[in-house]
Amino acid sequence: MAQIAPSILSADFANLQRDIEDIRANGGDIVHVDVMDGIFVPNISIGIPVVQALRKVTDLPLDVHLMIDRPVRYVEEFVKAGADYVTIHVEADQPQNTLEALDKIHALGCKAGIVLKPKTPAEAAIPYLEKCDMVLVMTVEPGFGGQKFMADMMPKVAQLKQWLTDINPDCLVEVDGGVDANTCAVCKENGADVLVAGSAYFKATDRAAFVKTIQA
Ligand code: DX5
Ligand code: ZN
Repeated sequence: MAQIAPSILSADFANLQRDIEDIRANGGDIVHVDVMDGIFVPNISIGIPVVQALRKVTDLPLDVHLMIDRPVRYVEEFVKAGADYVTIHVEADQPQNTLEALDKIHALGCKAGIVLKPKTPAEAAIPYLEKCDMVLVMTVEPGFGGQKFMADMMPKVAQLKQWLTDINPDCLVEVDGGVDANTCAVCKENGADVLVAGSAYFKATDRAAFVKTIQA
């Protein structure tokens, strides 16, 4: 059992409302929004006004994945724009600023989480685990959709799930990158609660069936 968070990075940006409404119609659980600044990752995607616009057209939770440098500068604006979850990379700033960012997100009544790039060990999450509502494990290098799933991240998923079961069992473990109808199984076996799927969801000929496969 898992929840699916289709990533709108692979949506048709000229028809975002249609594609967001389609996620609900197909039984999707969460909308994953990838924010990139061209500095933390070598790509630029969408920002605060798009989150504001999406908030008006869906009741589904908006899971905003900030791939930006020093996110403490912007987290409050993303919360006010309508995010339900704001996740920030542990590699994007000094630990005290990461902790401050998590506190700022919580202070506005929003759920907060951290993200680990593939080369970042599970141990890097330890200082934040008790403050998190979500821990996101990247299974591709952040920046682009459509990359190959890194199965060697699964021990990291299992380790984080184990630690969280002990100290913060309500915290969700999310996996992002290369998730499809095949790779979803090993994610779930290792304890992932939420699976992000961009290209596999939007390319699926039967999206409702794809959603059920991920959720099963
Ligand atoms: C990558 C993003 C992902 C991306 C996943 O930097 O964080 O959310 O949209 O795309 P797929 O599912 O195609 O790997
Ligand atoms: Zn993402």
